[in-house]
Amino acid sequence: MSDLIAEDLFSDPEIKKAKEILLNTIQKYKNKITKTEKAKDSLAKTFKSDLEKFATLRGGNLYYPYIGSGIGNGALVELTDGSIKYDFITGIGVHYFGHSHEEIISASIDAALQDTVMQGHLQQNKDSMELMEIILKGANKNAKEFDHCFISTTGAQANENALKIIFQKKSPANRILCFENCFAGRTLALAQLTDKAAYRDGLPPTIATDYLPYYDKSNHQGSIDKTLKVLTSHLTRHKNRYAGMCFELIQGEGGYTPGNEEFFKAIIKVLKENNIAVWVDEVQTIGRTTELFAFQHFHLENEIDVLTLGKMAQVCATLYSDDFKPRPGLISQTFTSSTSAIKSSIRLFQLLQEENIFGEKGKIIQVHNHFVDHFKKLNKKYPNDFTGPYGLGAMIAFTSFDGDLAKSKEFASKLFENGLIGFIAGHDPVRIRFLLPILSVTLEDIDKAVEIIEKTYLELK
Ligand SMILES: Cc1ncc(COP(=O)(O)O)c(C=O)c1O
Repeated sequence: MSDLIAEDLFSDPEIKKAKEILLNTIQKYKNKITKTEKAKDSLAKTFKSDLEKFATLRGGNLYYPYIGSGIGNGALVELTDGSIKYDFITGIGVHYFGHSHEEIISASIDAALQDTVMQGHLQQNKDSMELMEIILKGANKNAKEFDHCFISTTGAQANENALKIIFQKKSPANRILCFENCFAGRTLALAQLTDKAAYRDGLPPTIATDYLPYYDKSNHQGSIDKTLKVLTSHLTRHKNRYAGMCFELIQGEGGYTPGNEEFFKAIIKVLKENNIAVWVDEVQTIGRTTELFAFQHFHLENEIDVLTLGKMAQVCATLYSDDFKPRPGLISQTFTSSTSAIKSSIRLFQLLQEENIFGEKGKIIQVHNHFVDHFKKLNKKYPNDFTGPYGLGAMIAFTSFDGDLAKSKEFASKLFENGLIGFIAGHDPVRIRFLLPILSVTLEDIDKAVEIIEKTYLELK
């Protein structure tokens, strides 16, 4: 008997036995999924009507005819049309562990044993505290940078919290700096930051935002000079009006363009001289480079005031130092996250420690290099028709058919049909990108996926 009834419950041998039965049973069915499969004729009618129902209910078609059945095996996922596909986009970077990962299901079962589904500002269980500590420990690995971690449910909410923290700290400054082609989220405020007119079509203007050109690898020094010149011009035009600048260290939605340490440091130096907060948006880049955080990969320790994360972490969060601590009342939410997301996140961060994911010899680099080898062969075989891979680490993209929008969309749809799920990014050129299930993907999975890419290309050529 322990002092807490809950502790006795969670360690009860009957619970342990039941959990083992559940996990073993899932494993048995999961093992049936070993390769891509075509959709089944027997399910075609129901699938079609479900897609129509989906579109009616949500007020628009699904991007892909993807309705998951609820099971998969690593990089493979079963859909309700009976097809089995390689999931190389993972809900745009969410299912980092792949499908039906035993450890993540185990964490979710533990969560399901708890008294409530959601945790929030008035009622938190101890797991949230554990997770905040884990995230801060990871972010402060090389240098003590952040004191606080505020968990939330979406990247947009984490970014809204970052904006509020920054504006309050730098009040009355009311403008924000961003990079051209950036993506920051889809709230009213963030749609204004996001550099895509269609995402704010018909919306009233909210936050005054000015843009700097992003890093251009083909012209390193010229790119730094150009961006600093634009920055200086903005700072002169709007003296003391900028509260902060949002950085994506590898542009995600913008087309998988990595930045550069010297480029970032040159900008940050000017920002600091002008009392402008540095905010790094790692909603998409966390877990994708040689380090847990991309800011560590780019050696930006001690340079950042506010950091946001999401997607692969299963929860989203805003990290900040004591200096940026908001006054009471500024940030709060009914939900921080679900207990299953919080427990899965804890287990995921533990697995990242236990497995060889980061570093120069880690899985991310192995996966990246494997893609590079494959793309070299494709480039050679079909000169001018394939370029890439672009991106960095486990953010991988390629361009085909000169990055034409319609043709790239067709390529992505045909890939889907042929059993590989990727997605488009960027414009002029458009790229096809992958956010792999890093914990479970194998080099053989990548070989198979590249076979599908080549087959699809030949069909469309
Ligand atoms: C860099 C970046 N910031 C913010 C967001 C918004 O995150 P969410 O869709 O969870 O609100 C995204 C989503 O793609 C992103 O890539």
